[in-house]
Amino acid sequence: MSKPIHVLDILQQKRDGLALSGEQMESFIRGVTQRDLPGAPTDAQIAAFLMAVFLRGLTPQELASLTNAMRFSGETFDASPLRTFAVDKHSTGGVGDKTSLLLAPILAAAGLAECTPEGVPGLCVPMISGRSLGHTGGTLDKLETIPGFNTQLSLAEFTATLRRCGAALIGQTPTLVPADRILYAMRDHIGTIESPNLITASIMSKKLAESLNGLVLDVKTGSGAFMRTDQEARHLAELMVQTGTLAGTRTVAVLTTMHQPLGRFAGNWVEVWECVDLMQHHEHPLSADLLHLTHTLAGWMLHLAGKAEDAQAGYLRSQQILRSGAAYQAWLRIVAAQGGDTSVFTTPASFHRPAASRVIAADAAGYLASMDCTQVGWAVQRLGAGRARPGDPVSAHAGIECHAKLGQVVQRGQPLFTLFSEDARLLDEPADMLRQTLQITEAAPDLPPLIREVVQYASPAAAPLDR
Ligand code: URA
Repeated sequence: MSKPIHVLDILQQKRDGLALSGEQMESFIRGVTQRDLPGAPTDAQIAAFLMAVFLRGLTPQELASLTNAMRFSGETFDASPLRTFAVDKHSTGGVGDKTSLLLAPILAAAGLAECTPEGVPGLCVPMISGRSLGHTGGTLDKLETIPGFNTQLSLAEFTATLRRCGAALIGQTPTLVPADRILYAMRDHIGTIESPNLITASIMSKKLAESLNGLVLDVKTGSGAFMRTDQEARHLAELMVQTGTLAGTRTVAVLTTMHQPLGRFAGNWVEVWECVDLMQHHEHPLSADLLHLTHTLAGWMLHLAGKAEDAQAGYLRSQQILRSGAAYQAWLRIVAAQGGDTSVFTTPASFHRPAASRVIAADAAGYLASMDCTQVGWAVQRLGAGRARPGDPVSAHAGIECHAKLGQVVQRGQPLFTLFSEDARLLDEPADMLRQTLQITEAAPDLPPLIREVVQYASPAAAPLDR
């Protein structure tokens, strides 16, 4: 007969740095989601567990057990009836990061181009995305600026859309990974958000609950990222890649730089507009970094799915799909299937209707050398594009347009940013925040590359890419 499991033993063991068994982890997480079970942990005990994990860390086996217990704490999405390779991307969060809006249609087009005789796509992209968090934007908030777009499909509707369109984009359902919702809210209260183990279990339990065959992680580092240093980002990437791989999902992490907004715009509708422009071949020079990152991530996704010999071949295929117009056709299909009004894409600029705008100009000539990208993200949030509290409404038309990138030579008086808001009274504070954070220097800045490293499980030492 197996030994009874007691919450107090779990807490004392973890407090003393001893490893927990898989059964202990499973029992604890079961109690987190079913609080009426006899012996389920109290709020104080859940907080104590999280703090002990924060301070003592987890062995790889414990991390795998915790992630697995959270993954199966509620309903899971089962992609297997589709009989195709399910691949997704997850980003640790950034400013102006809209790659999901391009990746879904690019990958969908690749999958639809290789349909089986039964009409099953060669791969599918079940994207379960989030809302804006802190200074970072959220894919759902961007998609919901498209009139009629429904991000709350049932899992059955999600499956049907994937089968028809090759990709679908929805929000977290209340029944998917409920343990994470409880633990995340508690972590926020007790100062344990910044734990690489807890972040890994939180992110990977939700991604693995999509029953993915392949996953590409965009782990950001720099002034606009949650991970400020390369070392922190690499450690998190290694934990996530190890956890995904041990769970049977082909997992790769790309370490990328987030020290300025990605692309031309940051906000909600403006980011959809930028992506539609790219899908319609209106390539703006300030979107070059967005395109490079998108094709890099798409290249890995195609490679993991067996549709490209290597990531570089995948990169070229992604470029070709975007340029051919196939991604735009896939985008129209996905948006229409999710109830969105595709007529707004005919002239996306005319759908951008902020009530007020203001230009921030360079106060000196020289190189645009640096900015605190987190401050830029908070400025976007204060314009109305993000939330101060969960559940707050967000503005569709608030945001910023970037007119220059780091490393560029600028003249005194040259516009650097345009701010947009639906309320003119919201412009002053973000305008000051931006003015204070921009640094213009006489000497050219030394800037890190956008794509830093790729972390794979087979070679956790991480191979340099385009340095
Ligand atoms: N995003 C998540 O989903 N979980 C974390 O813990 C951090 C970022």
